[in-house]
Amino acid sequence: MQTITIAIDGFSSTGKSTVAKQLAEALKYVYVDSGAMYRAVTLYAMQQKFIVAESFDEDGLINALDNVLISFKYNEEKGFAEVYLNGENVEKEIRTLEVSNYVSTVSTVPEVRRKLVEQQQEMGANKGVVMDGRDIGTVVFPDAELKIFMTASAETRALRRYRELLDRGDDIEYEDVLQNVVSRDYIDSTREDSPLVKAEDAIEFDNSNLSIEDQFERILNMSRDIIGQKKSDS
Ligand code: DC
Repeated sequence: MQTITIAIDGFSSTGKSTVAKQLAEALKYVYVDSGAMYRAVTLYAMQQKFIVAESFDEDGLINALDNVLISFKYNEEKGFAEVYLNGENVEKEIRTLEVSNYVSTVSTVPEVRRKLVEQQQEMGANKGVVMDGRDIGTVVFPDAELKIFMTASAETRALRRYRELLDRGDDIEYEDVLQNVVSRDYIDSTREDSPLVKAEDAIEFDNSNLSIEDQFERILNMSRDIIGQKKSDS
């Protein structure tokens, strides 16, 4: 069977990972959550006190980057690969609002990006991968056969994230989540190194008014069309 690379980029909480996981399962591809890798580096920076309140010791983090080992391990029960930081499962710790508040800043550091992009490219070297993030279609896999750029209003996205955090028992205010979404949109799309922009050949996909099922069906059909096309070309 022909395999392709699927890149899903977009703003925070646009539902990229939901559809990426569904696609990977349906196509028997590997799913990689690149945001989880930036979050794991951020958690490391917090643990090592390179980030304390408003201060960020960027050089300290850069010098320690060789000590940061990020890996994924498939969780049969959950049906996706969880992220590990230096051998420890940190899937839950990286999803807190505190990590979310720092991750965009850590993601602006070119040395961090270089390290993670290299690892992401290795993971996708044999195709058959669905990766979501901010720069997947532009930097990590510029030759991906299918590139989706997901959008939805900031309010829709904040509400989704707010419900997710409430469900997992976090004590949280909607306004704080909205503020985090807006602030990350700004930092992610204005940073100098690999800002979040739509790749020229990406398909823009606004899911504000789409159910998760409809969104999945449409993107799965797009994937199958491209896979079929490749098969008939070869
Ligand atoms: O997808 P996410 O919200 O978990 O990503 C967290 C942060 O990581 C996001 O605000 C920006 C950064 N990120 C990035 O810079 N490049 C990527 N490919 C993925 C995430």
